[in-house]
Amino acid sequence: MSTLVVYFSFTGSTRSIAKKIAETLGADITELKTSKDYPTEGFRKYFWGGKSVIFGEKPELINKRIDLSQYDTIIIGTPVWAGSFTPPIKSFISQYKIQGKRIALFASHAGGGAQKCFTRLKKELSGNEFIGEIDFAEPKKSLEENLSETVKWAKCLPMEMQ
Ligand SMILES: Cc1cc2nc3c(=O)[nH]c(=O)nc-3n(C[C@H](O)[C@H](O)[C@H](O)COP(=O)(O)O)c2cc1C
Repeated sequence: MSTLVVYFSFTGSTRSIAKKIAETLGADITELKTSKDYPTEGFRKYFWGGKSVIFGEKPELINKRIDLSQYDTIIIGTPVWAGSFTPPIKSFISQYKIQGKRIALFASHAGGGAQKCFTRLKKELSGNEFIGEIDFAEPKKSLEENLSETVKWAKCLPMEMQ
């Protein structure tokens, strides 16, 4: 059995962390992609992203179907949007009935909301065992430091069945 890192990233921070986790653990990695792009500039960027979270939207994913049965551990990463996890992660959770897995969570944000984001994710993912969580404020600002923190965290995850 193996590990999958699955994440969404809008501006690349969560992607850097996700790649480091996958590299550290020798895990498979999937970046969630949506059929429609969110606006990337100015007010519209925050407005559309925030609105999408608040209305509980589940944007269409264009990823190939993932066979989750081959993974016993899933590590899920998201930026914090409007104090929660991002809509593509909501789509992923709703598309796959994830049960009986070991789950670790990571988030990237600009200073707040990670705990609420994790609490909500855990609620959506009930029926699984949670083995770890970590969040990063503006990871790009001191990327090397954050990536080495990521490696330490990933190496300490309990990867064997308890
Ligand atoms: C629509 C939107 C909403 C956001 N909401 C929050 C928030 O509630 N709290 C916060 O700390 N950062 C918030 N941010 C900032 C991102 O979480 C932060 O920049 C994150 O590191 C981006 O990760 P990414 O580069 O992987 O997309 C928001 C960003 C966007 C675009």
